[in-house]
Amino acid sequence: MPKKLKIKKEIISKRVNSISKSGIRKFFDMTLEMEDVISLGVGEPDFVTPWQIREACIFSLERGYTSYTSNWGLYELRDLISQKLNKGYKLEYNPKDEILITAGVSEGLDLAIRAIINPGEEVIISEPCYVSYSPCITFAGGIAVPISTDISSEFKPTPEQINESVSDKTKALIISHPNNPTGSTMSKKELEGIADVVNEHDLIVISDEIYEELTYEGKHTCFSSLNGMRDRTILLNGLSKAYAMTGWRIGFVAGNVDIIEAMMKIHQYTMLCAPITGQFAAIEALKSCDEAVKEMVADYDRRRRLMVEGLDKIGLECIKPKGAFYTFPSIKTTGLSSEEFAERLLNEKKVAVVPGNVFGASGEGFIRCAYAVSKDVLKEALSRIESFVKDNR
Ligand SMILES: Cc1ncc(COP(=O)(O)O)c(C=O)c1O
Repeated sequence: MPKKLKIKKEIISKRVNSISKSGIRKFFDMTLEMEDVISLGVGEPDFVTPWQIREACIFSLERGYTSYTSNWGLYELRDLISQKLNKGYKLEYNPKDEILITAGVSEGLDLAIRAIINPGEEVIISEPCYVSYSPCITFAGGIAVPISTDISSEFKPTPEQINESVSDKTKALIISHPNNPTGSTMSKKELEGIADVVNEHDLIVISDEIYEELTYEGKHTCFSSLNGMRDRTILLNGLSKAYAMTGWRIGFVAGNVDIIEAMMKIHQYTMLCAPITGQFAAIEALKSCDEAVKEMVADYDRRRRLMVEGLDKIGLECIKPKGAFYTFPSIKTTGLSSEEFAERLLNEKKVAVVPGNVFGASGEGFIRCAYAVSKDVLKEALSRIESFVKDNR
C-alpha cells in the first residue's frame, strides 16, 4: 500500500481554509452515533416524496431516459415553472433563456453569487440566516456584510439597517423569506421598503424563496413581483422542501436574461445539467401534486401550533413562525450558550437541535428546532426539553 501523503494546510486554498465546517452537520453526525435520539436538527421533510412523483421517475427510467439534458434543463419543466410564476405572481419569464434548472437552490445560490461578484465586492446578508450564504460569498472572493436582527423585530431586516450597511463596494443583498432558521416571513409592505433601498443603491437582490409554499399565515410575496424588481432580482426556488424532494436535487433560478446567461456559463462548465430523473420527477410534481403539497403544509401547520404552544408552556420565548418548518426559541433564561444548550440537551435528553450561533452571531442565545417530525415525536421532544430546562433554571 503506498504511503498516504500528508497534505499541508497551505495546499488548501486560503478561502476554503478560512471557513469552518457546517455546524448543522456536526450535530447531525453526533446523533448518528447515539440511540433513541429525537432529531429536530435537520431541515428536511419527514414525508416521503409523493407516490405519483416517484412513479413518474420510475416510468422515465423504464423508457430509458438516463442521459444528460440540455444545460438549461428540460424545456417542459422550465415551461411549467414559467407558468407557475405567471399564475402566482403575474411574472413573465421566458422559459427559453430566463429560467435555468439547477441542482437544488444550493447550486443556484452559488451560481448567482459567482456570476455577479468580483473579489472584494460586498454582499449584505441578514442574520440569522441559512448557513451557506456567507461561505458561498467567501468562495467567490466576495465579502459578506451581516446585518444583525433579533426577536423584537421578528428577525426581519429593516430598510434602515440595509441602508446603513451599504458601502461603495456593495453589489448585492441576499434575502430569504420564509426564513431558515427563524420561520419569520415578510409582508409585501416590508419587502417594498427593502425594494426602495435596493433601487436607491442600484443593488442586485438574491431572493431565496425555497420555503414559499410553506407559508401558514398571510400570502407569500415574491420579491421579483414588486415594482421594478424583476430585473434586479435573482429568484431562487426549488422542489426540495414543499414537495419533500430534498434528495432529487432540483432547483431553479429565474431572472434577467443577461444575469441568467452569465449563471448558465458557470453551470454548463461545472454542473452540465441537473439530474434527468429528478427533472422528470419535478415535471410530475408541478403538474399533479398541488393537493399533496396542501396536505403536507396542513400537517406542518398543526405541528407548528403544537410546537409554539409547547415552547410557550416551557417558558422559552419564541416568535410564532409564519413559514418554513422551524421554531427559533430563546434559551437565554437558562444562562447557557447555544452550543452548551444543544450539546447537553443531546447528551442528557437525547434531543438534537441546532445551536442558533451557526446561523450567525445574532443567533447566539437561540436554538433552531425543526418541526418536520410527527406530532407524537414532537410531544416527546417537548417533554424532554421541558425536563432539561427545569434542571437548568
Ligand atoms: C433557506 C435555504 N435555502 C436553500 C437550501 C438548500 O436547498 P436545496 O435542497 O434546494 O439545495 C436550504 C436547505 O435547507 C435552505 O434552508
